[in-house]
Amino acid sequence: MATTTHFYETFHPEHYDLYIDINRAQKVFSGRSTITGDAQTTEVLIHQNFLKITKVQADGQAVPFTVDNDLQGIRIQLTKTGQVTLAIDYSAKLTDSMMGIYPSYYEVDGEKKQLIGTQFETTAARQAFPCVDEPEAKATFDLALKFDEHAGETVLSNMPEKKIENGVHYFDTTVRMSTYLIAFAFGELQGKQTKTKSGVTVGVYGTKAHRANELDFALDIAKRSIEFYEDFYQTPYPLPHSWQLALPDFSAGAMENWGLVTYREAYLLLDPDNTALEIKQRVATVIAHELAHQWFGDLVTMKWWDNLWLNESFANMMEYVAINALEPDWHIWETFQTSEAPMALQRDATDGVQSVHVQVEDPAEIDAIFDSAIVYAKGARMLVMVRAMIGDDALRAGLKQYFIAHKYGNATGDDLWQALGEASGIQLNAIMNTWLEQPGYPVVTASVEAGQLKISQQQFFIGDGKEVGRQWQLPLNSNYDAAPAIFKDQSATLGDYAQLRQANGKPFRLNVGNNSHFIVKYDQQLLDDILAHVDDLTHIDQLQLLQDFRLLAEGRQISYATVVPLLSRFAASDSTVVNAALYELAANLKKFVTPGSTAEQQLRTLYDQLSAAQVQRLGWTPKTSDSFDDQLTRPYILSATLYAQNKQSILAAHELFEGNAQNLAGLPADTRVFILRNEVKNFGNATLFDQLLTDYRQSTDASYKADICAALTATPDAAGVAKLIDAFEDADTIKPQDLRAWYRGVLANDAGQQAAWDWLRNDWAWLEATVGGDMEFTTYITVTSRIFHTADRLAEFKAFFEPKLNTPGLTREIKMDTKVIASRVALVEAEKDAVNAAVAETVK
Ligand code: BES
Ligand code: ZN
Repeated sequence: MATTTHFYETFHPEHYDLYIDINRAQKVFSGRSTITGDAQTTEVLIHQNFLKITKVQADGQAVPFTVDNDLQGIRIQLTKTGQVTLAIDYSAKLTDSMMGIYPSYYEVDGEKKQLIGTQFETTAARQAFPCVDEPEAKATFDLALKFDEHAGETVLSNMPEKKIENGVHYFDTTVRMSTYLIAFAFGELQGKQTKTKSGVTVGVYGTKAHRANELDFALDIAKRSIEFYEDFYQTPYPLPHSWQLALPDFSAGAMENWGLVTYREAYLLLDPDNTALEIKQRVATVIAHELAHQWFGDLVTMKWWDNLWLNESFANMMEYVAINALEPDWHIWETFQTSEAPMALQRDATDGVQSVHVQVEDPAEIDAIFDSAIVYAKGARMLVMVRAMIGDDALRAGLKQYFIAHKYGNATGDDLWQALGEASGIQLNAIMNTWLEQPGYPVVTASVEAGQLKISQQQFFIGDGKEVGRQWQLPLNSNYDAAPAIFKDQSATLGDYAQLRQANGKPFRLNVGNNSHFIVKYDQQLLDDILAHVDDLTHIDQLQLLQDFRLLAEGRQISYATVVPLLSRFAASDSTVVNAALYELAANLKKFVTPGSTAEQQLRTLYDQLSAAQVQRLGWTPKTSDSFDDQLTRPYILSATLYAQNKQSILAAHELFEGNAQNLAGLPADTRVFILRNEVKNFGNATLFDQLLTDYRQSTDASYKADICAALTATPDAAGVAKLIDAFEDADTIKPQDLRAWYRGVLANDAGQQAAWDWLRNDWAWLEATVGGDMEFTTYITVTSRIFHTADRLAEFKAFFEPKLNTPGLTREIKMDTKVIASRVALVEAEKDAVNAAVAETVK
């Protein structure tokens, strides 16, 4: 199906009257989709998937039609083109696929309940009602909803309910919008509401399994985010309400349906009294992301899925812009540097990676282009680069024009560059297309040759890569004026180094602030100069140095052994970003040691030396005097000291466990995961194991559940591992949406890896049937590739996945991940002796 025609070319819908009747008890629904629009051809194509079409009428007359399941469509024969009203009757099954209209399952006080919700992006609106299911086919919608209703249920949709007649809920007509943003939900919900300054009603909803105060944090962030965006975009929120709804079963993280945003429970609800700052920040950025889409994505939508990045890259950047404005003390841009930046730099260094802008037609491929490291993280970095170039005033002015020009319509990347270019007077198109259309990024080499300071760019690869002469237009952000603002050429000579050094009075640096998407390789002279003044660098610039070392070492441009002695220089930092980069680098040394070896013991000693003083400083118990940095740094330190098997730490954690054995959920959320993991690893027994698994089943606190997952998957005990593998396919214990974290945890555990890998291979068909329909599926391959580092595993990985290379949506992932493991295996083989010797030398 390589040459799908866009259905929009055959029919332009203008208005839908949707009637949907859902019977939960029978797990079926039926409906009629009445679509008024303009037929472009006498054969019109309307999307459907998994629907049984019983009748099609045009202007009240039955007309011939055929259902084409390969095309996910209905071919309808009309006698003329032009204005027409189609009425399509259908029925379908409710399935547990987390796509289309689907049930979520949960329990309240031991009683099983369900909630109906929807998930239509990217191509599942067609599973709920016949429609032209393409982002460009915008129309208005009247929804009428009937279901096997009982007293005490709440019904939500994009627009407010207008009336209930004969048990049918009628909603107000929507604004002009895309089908993938339609949503509704019903069940026994609790909710809280407030109003923004401008009068928008904001609400947060969840099941009654939660305590009411778990809605409070989200309500505050949602309200303030909408207020922020109305001001930042200078464009009012166009709907009367903005509901945030947490669904117990949810395939993505969250979804920006216009006026009815849906979330995983973990990304919306939290216990305001005992939740780690990191989790609060994540919930806040998720909400800010989805609400950014209410304009950028919902009001103005990408024309086709190839411009998906326009939606997602932008919302990904705005998470940080918004939360930085709402909670300035959090320094949320630091999280951007510790999460988005390394994710993008890592993935984008593998040959075969997609570009941000990527051609796509086949519905089976559309979900596969949601590569979060590229479309989200790299795309957001591109936009951060643009923001740094043009400044916020031009960004806001340009966005305002963009919304005026395209509201209730569609746009492409060029439309955005046009609007921002006009506002800033900077031609962005040419610069940005080098980033959008090409995969990868460059390493800029800075060196002194014959007294001259030189720079050059070349594509950076981790693993084999084909050099094809790609060049980028790089905002250099140098601290020396002699460097050009935008570096377009392959190489440049900046002048006499001694004079430049003298005149500038500081070491030469590039990409100050780490906002451009490239890494830097300084020659020894320049690097020594930087290291001699390393304390003058900002925390972000220190992080950048460590991040670039790690990437250069992964790419075999420098050796890991040379980096090992540098680690201790950063170990006393009280900055979260520096510790994050430091321990990320240290974690990368683990692949060089075999379990139980002397080398492993020496690496543990290195971890101990790096972390010991910080454990003293921060302690095992969070203090009210902790700064945000302290709160966010402590997890890195405690994780390190436990890896080090530091005796005092093990005992300190054990004592905390014993003191709270009756109320483990009540342990401080900041340290709970380490206390539980320590207990399972070092003091574990079957009783504790079962107790935690029961708590997991019963708890509604997502962050406590995540802690239990991290603790149990670390078990050294084979019987424990077997119990977990059994639970993988038991949805009453581990919901399919949460399974990947369990799989990854067991796979990362030396004592569990074989069992987890066997499970994946043996039960691949089950996994495909259970989560195969959504974008989570490929990430099981990705997480496997992040862990494997031996030749044997590489061979097994190839033997299993290579026969699946032609599966739609899996091709790129399998190719890339094979390369990722292969290059890691080669790196380990080549450098393990030198690295382990360097570690041994450092800890002597
Ligand atoms: N639009 C996406 C969700 C989505 C992606 C649905 C692909 C269907 C297919 C949403 O805005 C989003 O980006 N969600 C993220 C969470 C976000 C806060 C980064 C997700 O689901 O991972
Ligand atoms: Zn998004």
